[in-house]
Amino acid sequence: MKNLKKFLVPWIDEVKPYDTEELIVAWAHPEFKRMMLNENPIAPSKKVTKAILKAAKMGNRYPDNGVKVRAQLAKLHNVEPDNVYIGHGSSEIIDMIMRLFVAPGDEIIIPNPTFSLYGLRAKAVGGKVVKVDMKDDMQYNTDAMIKAVTPKTKVIIVCTPNNPTGDFIPDKDLERIIKLGIPTMVDEAYLEFQPDRKSKDQLIKKHDHVIVAHTLSKAYGMAGIRFGYALADKELIQYFRNMQLPWNVSLTSIAAAEAAIEEKEELMRKAKYNKTSVDYVYSELSKIPGLRPFYSHGNYVLVDGTDTGIVGKEVVDYVFQNAGVMIKYFAPLKGRNGFFRISLGSHKENALCIKYVKKFFKDYKKNTNG
Ligand SMILES: Cc1ncc(COP(=O)(O)O)c(C=O)c1O
Repeated sequence: MKNLKKFLVPWIDEVKPYDTEELIVAWAHPEFKRMMLNENPIAPSKKVTKAILKAAKMGNRYPDNGVKVRAQLAKLHNVEPDNVYIGHGSSEIIDMIMRLFVAPGDEIIIPNPTFSLYGLRAKAVGGKVVKVDMKDDMQYNTDAMIKAVTPKTKVIIVCTPNNPTGDFIPDKDLERIIKLGIPTMVDEAYLEFQPDRKSKDQLIKKHDHVIVAHTLSKAYGMAGIRFGYALADKELIQYFRNMQLPWNVSLTSIAAAEAAIEEKEELMRKAKYNKTSVDYVYSELSKIPGLRPFYSHGNYVLVDGTDTGIVGKEVVDYVFQNAGVMIKYFAPLKGRNGFFRISLGSHKENALCIKYVKKFFKDYKKNTNG
């Protein structure tokens, strides 16, 4: 290995995989409740699975680059098909942005906390990650993000609503960031959970450095099928194409996306189901003294339990060991280490999770009171 090391890229020790250990556990134990990865509890519709099957029968053929689905997406977003790039989930869009803009030593600015993949993929190309803490109320600290810009800044990430904090960035803050003229990814992975909110898609018509990313993994509920897309200026999309692997999206994924995009009512149904879940989980958690849940526009609720004296991991371990419910804890932020996140499951799973979170705090209190 010593010999091999001198041939590997110099920043290789900074490169880490996205941790998917919990998925191995979850797939091996279907009885566990998967409330740790912002998946959708509702399975794909019959129309979608039928389309996949039909495409699978043509599986001996290479796909095109999604001519039809790009036209559908263009119509949906009121842009041109040449403004649309399709990817193997929006993870691929994130990766492509790093490969297109970031050279070794360049910097990317991300909010903290946020989806960890941005940082991981920036590091994969030798980039340096500049994390800007959110404010105490988990809103974007736009002043600090702007202050963090240096001549080396190549990408700014705006995740809206942000995972895991759940809120949108205010329009005026987004405008200030875009005004900087630095390539900016507006990640709208969770937007479709809010049918009344408009996408920032029209920004790409005015700004050739803005990339708006979407995924069918979240509100559409197709995380395992893998389909995401980017909207951007035509010239920039052409650079995406120059950089892309051919056939990056499978025939079956394209077929699934074509079918899902047409099923508007199904998407509404899933968004409505999720809203009921958020409201229930948020209001139940709010009843626990000292616990601070953050209301979410996505399909997850971040909770800060620091003021109750607990550490996030204790709650996560407790609900897993006692109820087989998998949730996630988060790294300490500003010295507070009581963070955990509940990804919403079925209504039954949510109730089970809440029951055991409440039990944890009751038991914990009992134990700590002596
Ligand atoms: C903010 C955000 N963006 C993108 C993704 C990636 O999703 P996918 O690659 O499944 O489209 C996720 C997944 O959790 C996410 O939270």
